[in-house]
Amino acid sequence: MHVDGANVLVTGASSGIGEALALELAARGATVALAARRRERLDAVLGRCLDRAPGSTRYVVDLADPEAAEALVASAWDDLGHLDVVVNNAGAPMRRSVRDLTTAELQRTMAVNFESPARICLAALGPMLDRGRGSIVNVSSFGGRAGIPGEAAYCASKFALAGWTESLALDLWDSGVEVRLVLPGAVDTEIWDQPGNDEPDYDGDLAPAGEVAAGIVAAIEGDRFEHYLPDLSDVARFKADAIEDYLAGVVAFARSRGADREVRPPP
Ligand SMILES: NC(=O)c1ccc[n+]([C@@H]2O[C@H](COP(=O)([O-])OP(=O)(O)OC[C@H]3O[C@@H](n4cnc5c(N)ncnc54)[C@H](OP(=O)(O)O)[C@@H]3O)[C@@H](O)[C@H]2O)c1
Repeated sequence: MHVDGANVLVTGASSGIGEALALELAARGATVALAARRRERLDAVLGRCLDRAPGSTRYVVDLADPEAAEALVASAWDDLGHLDVVVNNAGAPMRRSVRDLTTAELQRTMAVNFESPARICLAALGPMLDRGRGSIVNVSSFGGRAGIPGEAAYCASKFALAGWTESLALDLWDSGVEVRLVLPGAVDTEIWDQPGNDEPDYDGDLAPAGEVAAGIVAAIEGDRFEHYLPDLSDVARFKADAIEDYLAGVVAFARSRGADREVRPPP
């Protein structure tokens, strides 16, 4: 689907990948509906989008409350007339070893990263099917294909979103509603600095958010279902083919970095 002239809902548009995507979409002629919690940050992004995309709007919403998901889609659909594309990009990190993880942290991570995007899909699906066209883009993670030490809740939520999205694509095959799965690697955004998380062990290269945003636009406009951005598909394939080696290798790497809290041996 071409983004020029499309109405696009982008969740998590107040920073990082979502902000870069909103600006890219507006520059390419889309009208954008932006959603996140931080009103001032959203307004700043919206202000930059409005220069290129009059009619764009924003919604201050906390997607830790999955009840908000349906209301968000209904408001954006009504305000813009219809939605051509929905990008479920909002997400929160949860870097915490399972030894310390609380059930409240697990529930919140699943609500923001899985239940709300799934409910946004369901809310958008009916009206998209009625129109006979639409595009749903779910932003999972490389951690939705492979376990990461110290991120069990985050990986669970992103695996869930990846599985959901695969089945969504199967159920909607030839329906006119296209489905895309985006699996970012390490990207230079505020996700690495969010409070309430253990320090990340990773200190390697970070892809610019703008590159990922451009990749998401290409995913919307192209035909392929799955998009690793940047391309870590070789690593995902290695993990799928050789899980024992993957697990041992990741533990060895983490220990070499002194990440004892994630991979410390049993007492
Ligand atoms: N950066 C990476 O290395 C990386 C890697 C793999 C996957 N991803 C995924 O990429 C997506 C975008 O993340 P990012 O890297 O761009 O991080 P980011 O800069 O922290 O952006 C996250 C966005 O999600 C929004 N958000 C978080 N919790 C929310 C809530 N409860 N309700 C509504 N909105 C919420 C944030 O807005 P407010 O705080 O204003 O609500 C923000 O706009 C996420 O799904 C993330 O899991 C990122």
